[in-house]
Amino acid sequence: MEFYEVINKRRTVREFENETIPSEVIQRILHAAFQAPTNDHMRDWHYIIIRDKANAARLLDLIPKGISDADMNALIRDWNLNDSLQQDCYRHAVPKQYQMLFDASAIIVPLLKQKTDTLHPESISHLNAFASIWCSIEHIFLAATAEGYGCNLRVPLGNEAAYAREVLGFPDEYFIPCFIGIGKPKHGIAPVKQKEIDVKSRIHWEQF
Ligand SMILES: Cc1cc2nc3c(=O)[nH]c(=O)nc-3n(C[C@H](O)[C@H](O)[C@H](O)COP(=O)(O)O)c2cc1C
Repeated sequence: MEFYEVINKRRTVREFENETIPSEVIQRILHAAFQAPTNDHMRDWHYIIIRDKANAARLLDLIPKGISDADMNALIRDWNLNDSLQQDCYRHAVPKQYQMLFDASAIIVPLLKQKTDTLHPESISHLNAFASIWCSIEHIFLAATAEGYGCNLRVPLGNEAAYAREVLGFPDEYFIPCFIGIGKPKHGIAPVKQKEIDVKSRIHWEQF
């Protein structure tokens, strides 16, 4: 697939066909992850792949399996989501947080080595390791698209990351930025409409 075709085709996928994903495909995609730029030249990243459904169910156990209409309305209010299209995106995504990962052919858990306090950085550069792994996550999404697969992601909330550490048994100095679900996009599901951006109006030559 041509580069810009991959870029234009990549969309978050939350519904999957019931198909397995071959190890070779995952390996190629993760090889692409390690081509991402890195802050300290070390790429001290690990990726745990979960394909076994019993293991997936255990890992995802703390993720809510749905949301009531009242809680969804409260979330939209509390998070100040005032744009109707943005609200639609949340109404589409929030109820699917568990199922989009459980139904994926594999869950990929990226891990980065955390030397500074991400939640209380002394300067923006202290977030570099965190920023770097997100570059690798985007490489995963693009490589998956080029391979004919699709991905979603969830940023862990509450105790989900601590619990995942317990389930997956990774060392203390590693940190989970998100859970990734990967699989074959389900046929006939249209991607959620996104806000159209007038890119020209966001480009500022020489001065804002
Ligand atoms: C930093 C970041 C955090 C995100 N967190 C979540 C999440 O917790 N759950 C989810 O379903 N999608 C999450 N997403 C995916 C976005 O919802 C999605 O990228 C956005 O709606 C744009 O749609 P697109 O990816 O199809 O272009 C996240 C994306 C990013 C970049």
